[in-house]
Amino acid sequence: MRRFYSHDPHGNRLELLEPLSARPHAGEGIDFADPSSARTYSGRTADPSWVGALTALVDPAGADVVDLGCGGGTYVRALHDLGAHSVTGVDSSTPVLEQAHADHGHLTGVRFHHADATSTGLPDASADLVLARALVHHLPDRAALAREAARLLRPGGTLVVQDRTAADVTQPAGPHHLRGHLLELAPQLLPVEVGRRPDAGALLQALESAGLTGATPRTVWETRAHHPDRESYLAGIATRTGRSLLHHLTDDELDQLVHDLRDRLPDEPLVERDRWTLWAATKP
Ligand SMILES: C[S@@+](CC[C@H](N)C(=O)[O-])C[C@H]1O[C@@H](n2cnc3c(N)ncnc32)[C@H](O)[C@@H]1O
Repeated sequence: MRRFYSHDPHGNRLELLEPLSARPHAGEGIDFADPSSARTYSGRTADPSWVGALTALVDPAGADVVDLGCGGGTYVRALHDLGAHSVTGVDSSTPVLEQAHADHGHLTGVRFHHADATSTGLPDASADLVLARALVHHLPDRAALAREAARLLRPGGTLVVQDRTAADVTQPAGPHHLRGHLLELAPQLLPVEVGRRPDAGALLQALESAGLTGATPRTVWETRAHHPDRESYLAGIATRTGRSLLHHLTDDELDQLVHDLRDRLPDEPLVERDRWTLWAATKP
């Protein structure tokens, strides 16, 4: 058991205890298969800024949708709520998928499927829309993802890839771009973060090689979260929740980062925004 500290909204110090087993690979990157990862992408709702960016590209109403690397199912639910006929969430992590199923599996037309995103085993030409949000930076073979999405799509269907490029993640820190502060305060993360990010041109080429057309990348600022105060934001940082990058910090480095962020950020409600790139490609 290790101890770390946070603060409640009134500034009182809280002592939090966490079993060491909950952070077994601290400093070595995230292990999606570890049961401690089950809730890291759950409990969130899609922000209206995401809905606006997606529906500017494609109308999910009536569509059969596959969400590759669906995580906790946030966007599975959002696509269901936008009127999709069916939504199949695919993820390779058993604990993450079980949590997604527990949270959203009761929704009509929604199902979850355990598989690698590059080899889903789902039927050919069974989807009108394939979404891959925040997935490709975890994949070594992006061409394989493009080929699998092309196989799944019906003619006229659309693949939407959403991820952050090196240019997105290196946007300067600001009152809303809180990730910028993480990289400024823990610069050892920069090569990891930039190194895992997709190159916009290379991804475009992979999509075209898979026979998908018309994918002009476009950038959007999406609201990630409304944090009621600085301490709620810092609690998420301290637990690495939904932030795989922070699994590349040791526990001591993470404690230092939380301390430095507390010094730097105002103690007030924080609206966190990230810049993303979206590619929408069509199967002819
Ligand atoms: C950063 S999370 C994104 C979750 C969700 N799409 C979102 O935007 O909130 C990445 C997800 O991809 C899954 N994943 C990573 N590699 C995968 C692969 N090769 N095949 C399927 N899922 C994968 C992880 O288990 C994790 O749930």
